[in-house]
Amino acid sequence: MSSAKGIPRKLLQLTVVTTLLVYGCGEQPVTYPARRMPAGLMQDVAQLQAGQKLFRSKCASCHGKPSEGRSERAAFFNPPAPDFTGAHYRETDPAYLYWRIEVGKTVEPYRSQGSVMPAWGVHFSEEKIWQIVAYLQVRAH
Ligand code: HEC
Repeated sequence: MSSAKGIPRKLLQLTVVTTLLVYGCGEQPVTYPARRMPAGLMQDVAQLQAGQKLFRSKCASCHGKPSEGRSERAAFFNPPAPDFTGAHYRETDPAYLYWRIEVGKTVEPYRSQGSVMPAWGVHFSEEKIWQIVAYLQVRAH
């Protein structure tokens, strides 16, 4: 069965309970809800294109490459808006990315740090947030 290929890796990405992980500069441990990315999303070209479209219209101004119209302020936000081409985003837990997109600056420790990251959970369906997460992970290199 050729479809068995890649399954162990997917299983590793499934977070069974709320996970305690250290991200970014390795300073702040954060907790977030366990979630599973819908199966096959990262191989679904139409879904990835939908994610790319959302990223370009809603996120690139702060998170994009300069060619995508990255805001002059992106690097000066404190904390700065990360560039998702960083290779580690391929390995980042999708549940973490989902959570950050959903809640943005509204939770600790980001709120106290003065983050300007908007909370998109009120604007986007679950499907759209997953499309963006999949796009970000495919995009990273
Ligand atoms: C106004 C600028 C701005 C916009 C627009 C914006 N972000 Fe952010 N985002 C930030 C900043 C600044 C941070 C860093 C501070 C933080 O983590 O809260 C951040 C952090 C994040 C993180 C956490 C990254 C990490 O390594 O921990 C994710 C994921 C993210 N943004 C996704 C998105 C997505 C997806 C969109 C579009 C739907 C978006 N952002 C739109 C400013 C922005």
